[in-house]
Amino acid sequence: MIQFTLNRRVAAYLGAAFFFFLIISGAVTHHVRPDIYQNWKNGSLVLNPADNPTQPFQEEIFPLAKAGKIPKINPQNIVTDKNHKTPLFIGFTRNWYLLEQAVVSYIAAGWPADQITVIDNSGVMDSNLHGLLSPRNPWYLNHTRLDQLGVKIKRTPTLLTFAQLQNYFINSAIEQNWSYFFWSHMDVVVLSKEYESPYKGFYARILDCLRELVDTKEKWALKFFAYDWLTLVNVSAMKDMGGWDTQIPYYMTDCDMYERLKMKDFTLGDFNAGHIYDIGSHLSDLAILFPAEGENNALDTQRFKDLRSELEGMMKEKQENKQGRNYWQARQDGGEGEPFWRNPVGFEKSIRFWIERGRELFRMKWNYSECDLKKAGRRLSQDWA
Ligand SMILES: *[C@@H]1O[C@H](CO)[C@@H](O)[C@H](O)[C@H]1NC(C)=O
Ligand SMILES: *[C@@H]1O[C@H](CO)[C@@H](O)[C@H](O)[C@H]1NC(C)=O
Ligand SMILES: *[C@@H]1O[C@H](CO)[C@@H](O)[C@H](O)[C@H]1NC(C)=O
Ligand SMILES: *[C@@H]1O[C@H](CO)[C@@H](O)[C@H](O)[C@H]1NC(C)=O
Ligand SMILES: *[C@@H]1O[C@H](CO)[C@@H](O)[C@H](O)[C@H]1NC(C)=O
Repeated sequence: MIQFTLNRRVAAYLGAAFFFFLIISGAVTHHVRPDIYQNWKNGSLVLNPADNPTQPFQEEIFPLAKAGKIPKINPQNIVTDKNHKTPLFIGFTRNWYLLEQAVVSYIAAGWPADQITVIDNSGVMDSNLHGLLSPRNPWYLNHTRLDQLGVKIKRTPTLLTFAQLQNYFINSAIEQNWSYFFWSHMDVVVLSKEYESPYKGFYARILDCLRELVDTKEKWALKFFAYDWLTLVNVSAMKDMGGWDTQIPYYMTDCDMYERLKMKDFTLGDFNAGHIYDIGSHLSDLAILFPAEGENNALDTQRFKDLRSELEGMMKEKQENKQGRNYWQARQDGGEGEPFWRNPVGFEKSIRFWIERGRELFRMKWNYSECDLKKAGRRLSQDWA
């Protein structure tokens, strides 16, 4: 049993492991914040154990849901469009608290819950389905809560790498005859721009984006909503490219994919639907994402203003803590002995190992080690030259 509180070295490792998780959950692209990209390249993610904060573990961050009283969303965020479905995948590997927060924020922003699918890529097989893990286990996920929220859950057959998970998304879309889908990181919170007049919510803008694309002549492959924290994917473009290169499991695999798309003259555009905060910690009560009692359809209330500044603070905190400080806020340091539990330190070291090998492979594939393959003159026929 790891004595977490007594061993700062282990605490540091766990922090680093979590930071890596945040990154590999999809955040590493040339679309990503330059500081993360630079840190990654430098391989300088060493924690100073003395910097590691000790925020107490909070087992329940949405007491109203536990009490069976999920709040109503702002009626102004309810938008329906029979012609445009918006299937959204959110991949999960670790940290239930960040996942729940992301899912709830999408729902509060108007995303229909039944169009959200959480992809359980925890690698613990059916353990979460049967409630066998404890909340302190990093791979814990509350199936009952997700059912209660009305979102779907789909389980990967085994723990997939980032690139494999992307192909899994594509294959799931193909199975359901979807010509497009959205995928989101799990360490985000979305928020509508309630202070804008006339008001248009986050989800309403997502629908706008889709409607625009229906009539376009543009050969589009991807639309990014704040880097790739939320991405709209054109399935036929993915088929055309043969999907992601799963031999490059984590870092650089996105460069490989996005650059190949560019080489085939697909567009990778940006669209602004509202705020997407990239954060490594959780709110203390998710109820703040919903109108308070009596607030009903009011916009830009004091609650909203406070929430916005809190989220901005959380995002800033994550960005400023280049060493990975504060990224292990939930303190999920337990679960040893539970089904499919793995040593988190070993888990992190192994991922690091494969990241390095993936980087080497990218270099072998393209005879180049940076992201800007197309700009550097590489063409599709020139891989493995
Ligand atoms: C990473 O390396 C680059 C260039 O070598 C340097 O400019 C940058 O300050 C380094 N960043 C960190 C966080 O060490
Ligand atoms: C999981 O969620 C359900 C439904 O909200 C709740 O009743 C249950 O207490 C939660 N489980 C744990 C271990 O928190
Ligand atoms: C997808 O389309 C095929 C034929 O076009 C059909 O046989 C199949 O049932 C459809 N699948 C779903 C999930 O709608
Ligand atoms: C995806 O891209 C293809 C090829 O450019 C295009 O024909 C198709 O309309 C796009 N799909 C959607 C849903 O817009
Ligand atoms: C790989 O790149 C180097 C320089 O960047 C070049 O000298 C070499 O010929 C390239 N190798 C192949 C096989 O193209």
